[in-house]
Amino acid sequence: MPTRALFPTLIYASRLQPRGAAALNRQLLRECVQLRHDDRAGRLWSRRHYPGGYTSYQTRCRLQSVSPTFARLEALLGRHVQRFARALDFDLRCRTLVMTDCWANIMRRGVVHGLHLHPLSSISGTYYVRTPRGCAGLKFEDPRLERFMAAPPRRAGARARSQAWVSYPALAGSLVLFESWLRHEVPPNPVNDERVSVSFNYSWF
Ligand code: NI
Repeated sequence: MPTRALFPTLIYASRLQPRGAAALNRQLLRECVQLRHDDRAGRLWSRRHYPGGYTSYQTRCRLQSVSPTFARLEALLGRHVQRFARALDFDLRCRTLVMTDCWANIMRRGVVHGLHLHPLSSISGTYYVRTPRGCAGLKFEDPRLERFMAAPPRRAGARARSQAWVSYPALAGSLVLFESWLRHEVPPNPVNDERVSVSFNYSWF
């Protein structure tokens, strides 16, 4: 077939580490729940902007700097971020990708995180701490969607690379990385149990 795929949108998904996820996740979960308890401003912000859920995005957004557990997570994420940057052919000889923000998210049944991107960042991602069976995944949107104009719809069962939306399951102990300009959402959590994740941004400037 005389075609090439150019301008790819890369998404990186991997387990964080070969073993030890359960212990790390237990501690992260404990701290996320404690954070929700302590962070009154965050609970109030979440009530308005994240109904039914809790996020520390607006109030405690540098958890890697205040908690050894989150600092450990940052250390473990580093290797993955470097691999992803290599896959993207980033030239970082004179720069370093640095974690700028790291925050906790707790989603009960029905909580949604609408379509968004992460301005002022280069690479973003999520690490999953607690993912009850059947909980919502992470849904990505084709960044070229507004340019498709007269493009025909895709066949049912088209390859993932040809689809307009692709969902990644949320799996405890795993992470997903993507470039921060890529729009994504978490659809309403359908299960009657709490889905807990830690999101983060990296920047090179
Ligand atoms: Ni996001």
